[in-house]
Amino acid sequence: MGFRQAGLFLLLAASAFAQDELWTPKPGPRPQLNGPTIYGARPGHPFLYRIPCTGERPLRFSASNLPASLKLDAETGIISGTTPSAPATLRITFKAQNRHGRDSRLFRLVVGDKLALTPPMGWNHWYTHYDRVTDRTLRNAADAMAASGMADHGYQYVSIDDCWMVKPGSTDPELNGPARDSAGRQLTNRRFPDMQALTSYIHAKGLKAGIYTSPGPLTCAGFEGAWQHEELDARTYAEWGFDLLKYDWCGYRKIDNTPTDEARQKPYRLMGGILKRQPRDIVLNLCQYGMNDVWKWGAAVGGQSWRTTGDLGLAKDTRLPGFYSIAFKNAALWEYAAPGAWNDPDYILIGWYGNARGMQQPRKAKLTADEQYSYMSLWSLMASPLFFSGDMEKLDEFTLNVLCNRELIGINQDALGRQARLVRKTENDMVLAKPLEDGGLAVGLFNLGESKAAVEASFGDLGIGGKRKARDPWRYRDLGTVEDKLRAELAPHSVAVFRLSAGR
Ligand code: GLA
Repeated sequence: MGFRQAGLFLLLAASAFAQDELWTPKPGPRPQLNGPTIYGARPGHPFLYRIPCTGERPLRFSASNLPASLKLDAETGIISGTTPSAPATLRITFKAQNRHGRDSRLFRLVVGDKLALTPPMGWNHWYTHYDRVTDRTLRNAADAMAASGMADHGYQYVSIDDCWMVKPGSTDPELNGPARDSAGRQLTNRRFPDMQALTSYIHAKGLKAGIYTSPGPLTCAGFEGAWQHEELDARTYAEWGFDLLKYDWCGYRKIDNTPTDEARQKPYRLMGGILKRQPRDIVLNLCQYGMNDVWKWGAAVGGQSWRTTGDLGLAKDTRLPGFYSIAFKNAALWEYAAPGAWNDPDYILIGWYGNARGMQQPRKAKLTADEQYSYMSLWSLMASPLFFSGDMEKLDEFTLNVLCNRELIGINQDALGRQARLVRKTENDMVLAKPLEDGGLAVGLFNLGESKAAVEASFGDLGIGGKRKARDPWRYRDLGTVEDKLRAELAPHSVAVFRLSAGR
């Protein structure tokens, strides 16, 4: 197809962008394996992985080249066991089949030192439940992650944020009491009767459990932190069965607020080292809002991801909704992301979620459909951890349509592990380009303006030449061959994402 035709094709595709509200086609009845094609785990550790797959159940799963220490449940697609004791890269092939057909997919299990070779995906309670969170909230979220299809697209971590601990000085009988036992071991508040039972419940679905604490004596919300109990607390979380720790600076301010790199790194270096010595894989998410250019040293102190900004839920709307200003800061840091080392621009706030300032009950997002598709496109292209933080009990069709697009998630989870380069950012538009493992390029054209506009990126701007096959990942549609440039007519705050094939 020549350029004129290709341009016309793209224009037609782009005009459809404004019309149909649901962009992601529904998954069909045939098995379709999703999820990362590369996965890091440490040797000799417990391993748990639920193979993400859509299609009519019952499905029958199998895997070739699975080591003897790992077992696959053929009905659920859950792999469990222990990773091999020596570093190795295992090239496993997953297969799934049902009465409509079959699918297969490569899964490279890299047994070694690195975790989170692709950005972690999951849900975090903060922006919906705040200090109202209970054991039941987490169980319901795990149920919903499995039942809604999110897990079939790769969402995996069910994470508690702040407020599961005792709150010293609280008058609330559910939250007060001794924060630690006589041996110094941390206690939960009464809303969490049994952490081990909770993680077992989450693990039984093949999902993973995340927890939160602060290096300070108190967390941001005034609950018991890890200060001077770091070793014991990390061990406790490992024994309880947690798979991820968000470590939130907050209360540490009172201990040491010296603005040097060394002082800022100290609590994270300490926890990073402790977590590495635990007998299970625990992903470390640094939360210190981007101080001292954390993206330059977050990985060196043991983190797999680090918040690059303040709280997204507190970001003030300018002309644009708050998530854009967070994205603009995060997008500029593209050179620092790598496998096992991700810039974290905070959670995905769509669907129903609360107002962080007042810790309010969840309300429906005010964002337009275009803005929500732009949000997910930004997070996917920026190789950001994909954590939804809206209400799992009010997941509607639209929210799931934004969250569960296998090709967008495929771009986010691409094994090359690069964040999109910021090609252009003006008042009115933005262009991001993410190199992919197959030699292709994922490109996002964003209209930041208040009126309908054409957004373009020349192949020169994108650093490519020749002819490329283009695909619209949002709609799972081939767009033909393009050359010279990409162009899309976009509604205000809308986006077009293109997946370009490798050059010849
Ligand atoms: C800070 C963090 C948030 C959340 C709250 C909990 O504000 O940045 O993500 O964890 O603390 O109190």
